[in-house]
Amino acid sequence: MNRFVVTGGNPLHGTVKIGGAKNAAVAIIPATVLARGKCVIDNIPNISDVTLLLRILTEMGATVRMQGKKTVEIDTTHLVSHTVPYNLAKNMRASYYFIGALLGRSREASVFMPGGCNFGVRPIDQHIKGFEAMGASVDIDKGMINAQAEQLRGVHIYFDVVTVGATINVMLAAVRAKGLTILENVAKEPHIVDLANFLNSMGADIRGAGTDVIKIHGVDMMHGANYSIIPDQIEAGTYMAAAVATGGDVRVENIIPKHMEPITARLLAAGAQIEEGDDWLRVFRTGRLQRINVKTMPHPGFPTDMQPQMAAMLTMAEGTSIITEGVWDNRFKYVDELNRLGARITVDGKVAVIEGVETLTGAPVKATDLRGGAAMIIAGLVARGSTEIEEIIHIERGYEDVVEKVTALGGDMKRITLPDGELSKAL
Ligand code: EPU
Repeated sequence: MNRFVVTGGNPLHGTVKIGGAKNAAVAIIPATVLARGKCVIDNIPNISDVTLLLRILTEMGATVRMQGKKTVEIDTTHLVSHTVPYNLAKNMRASYYFIGALLGRSREASVFMPGGCNFGVRPIDQHIKGFEAMGASVDIDKGMINAQAEQLRGVHIYFDVVTVGATINVMLAAVRAKGLTILENVAKEPHIVDLANFLNSMGADIRGAGTDVIKIHGVDMMHGANYSIIPDQIEAGTYMAAAVATGGDVRVENIIPKHMEPITARLLAAGAQIEEGDDWLRVFRTGRLQRINVKTMPHPGFPTDMQPQMAAMLTMAEGTSIITEGVWDNRFKYVDELNRLGARITVDGKVAVIEGVETLTGAPVKATDLRGGAAMIIAGLVARGSTEIEEIIHIERGYEDVVEKVTALGGDMKRITLPDGELSKAL
């Protein structure tokens, strides 16, 4: 079993280059099935979710070629399948973007119910509502979601909740529907705008992405395009929180500072100092970490995907911080693991109360999910002694080259392989 061993005590110092945004990449890669022709996508993050999506495309009959580490050429002209089977869909959420994209391309899609991080129930009713409104029939048989349509027609859809997944999935189908689709109460995350820009570069006609209303005029044909994915807001925020937690001084490069505002605002309130350039931020802390309250909300609110990392950072703050989760029903599974390291956190429903402590102490913990795993790395970097993190498969789904990046910043972190149940000698 693979683990990370993180030994705390070194403030992070130096420069880290941020990779392409995971949640944009996992929408843009399935979107390539809408093109007749080659797409060349740059700034692809080196993460296992991307590897899996490229494998799904290959198994469907697409030609996929890496050009170096960060660029991929995808040609879906000769796709032969419109099915994503259980073994490929079960481990990731974004596999369901093939429903919208394949409906758009060929009016037919069969995709196994998606996996991904477990935050309690993750319904897909809004996706189905959108597809059905456009004229598709959708049924779920033995875990397989089957969607088909004679013709997709443009319609007016009001989403009952603000959802990233349904906004993306319905956009993917609507670009090829007949007529005008108006989507209201949509998600506004930077990766929604990035996907819209990519689709427009392929010949789609989408306006309003990044606002509450998206208008899409369906087109008959979409062609290949060259595109570069936006930087990962959450990867950048994670290194910023690690810098602040360890009392370090880190410059995060290759970012869009505007996307970081909801995060920088809370880090400043907690006592961080931040300098800004065109595509970088310098984050450092000299004084004591201060208590703050954080409430997660859809963009432009504080992102839920930074919630566990903030909690890890605030374990060391002076006073009691309160985190309210405003997006997911159950995103505090990682709290038990932080408490194993000596944190003092209690959870009541969607609220976590964090009493700051003087020190954390290294212990064996597990990554309960992707961002919960990132929280373990941050806590491990501030803890006394070594923290061994199990189930790192979750972390590697979404953080590229994390050991190399943390080590380059002076953190003590290794990836090891040990038989199940055994602990490394470091503990
Ligand atoms: N929801 C519904 N019905 C639906 C869809 C969603 O009720 O049909 C609810 C969910 O239960 C949740 C809320 O709406 O309470 C928001 O869910 P959303 O659809 O926005 O989430 P998602 O698309 O499944 C994406 C990211 C998550 C991130 C959320 C919120 C991807 C692949 N995943 O999930 O990212 O937490 O948006 O921003 O883009 C992560 O990167 O760690 C991660 C979990």
